[in-house]
Amino acid sequence: MKKIGILTGGGDCPGLNATIRAVVRKGITKYDYEMYGILEGWRGLIDGMIRELDIDSISGILPRGGTIIGTSRTNPFGKDNKGDPERILENMKKFDLYAIVVIGGDDTQGVAHKLSEMGVNIVSIPKTIDNDIPGTDFTFGFDTAVNIATEAIDRIHTTAESHNRVMVVEVMGRNAGWIATFAGIAGGADVILIPEKPVDIAEVCELIKKRHKRGRRFSIVVVSEGVKIPLEDEVDKKFVLQSAKKDDFGHIMLGGVGTVLAKLIEKGTGFESRCTVLGHTQRGGTPTAFDRVLGTRFGIAAIELVYRGIFGKIVVLSGNEIMPKDLKDVIGRNKTVDDYWYDIAKVFFG
Ligand code: F6P
Repeated sequence: MKKIGILTGGGDCPGLNATIRAVVRKGITKYDYEMYGILEGWRGLIDGMIRELDIDSISGILPRGGTIIGTSRTNPFGKDNKGDPERILENMKKFDLYAIVVIGGDDTQGVAHKLSEMGVNIVSIPKTIDNDIPGTDFTFGFDTAVNIATEAIDRIHTTAESHNRVMVVEVMGRNAGWIATFAGIAGGADVILIPEKPVDIAEVCELIKKRHKRGRRFSIVVVSEGVKIPLEDEVDKKFVLQSAKKDDFGHIMLGGVGTVLAKLIEKGTGFESRCTVLGHTQRGGTPTAFDRVLGTRFGIAAIELVYRGIFGKIVVLSGNEIMPKDLKDVIGRNKTVDDYWYDIAKVFFG
């Protein structure tokens, strides 16, 4: 009986449990595998934290947010983690794992690729609310985050209108403006600012003033956390940070640009402005039906590849089809918002 491991790495997102359920369910019932959850991402494989996942352990998890096996941003190839890749190879042997299914975002996929080059049997599944993994039309987690942000924008609309205010809504997404663009279109934002497009504060203020002249005395501005902006009394544009301390993968902690932007808009328009930062609410709670189904399809496709002995792959959504792609073709870059989407959003600006 072959033993198969499964791990979730990086930031969590809704749909992880639906995906774990699919991998484990098909692995046990169809292929007679023994399935193991590797706890807390790569850290679990470095420190040997693993537990068996039987059919009972995945019962009832389909609608649950988060991940039942935990996650972390551990990078075994990080500069302070000497010897970790070797420890992973040792633990693969020690626990007699034939293959691992890795569910993660761009950082996790980069590690998966390196380990796959070192001979580990790996099949990957893309996940992230940011939707920034190349090669797949969508990652699961994104649809849920967009729905949460859209609902927030709808709610903010009514209070903005009552008070004649400009309301800035800050969403996540790191260096990609997918959440801002989709939630902004769905929620009817009057301006959407994303990292892919340079920000001109004077132009933003003009759009809002134009709108007020038309008699619309409130405005909604959606801003992505990764937008660079001129900080007080400065001309250069910078990220607004919660912390400049880098994580294992070299990421700084973004957050707060909305508050700075609201002040600049108030100064530039004279209209009272406020900011709401949606933060981790976008990653929490139950996944949408779309994300449950996508995660389930990815999970089934991944364990089928394991069964067929096809490794070094990531399963992706292309049109309406799930297909495998070489891991090497999706790593080291991000998928960002293109003009097709932003041009649609711009029709409704101002
Ligand atoms: O990659 C997902 C994401 O939610 C980003 O949108 C965000 O910048 C980051 O993770 C936040 O990370 P953390 O959970 O470590 O604060």
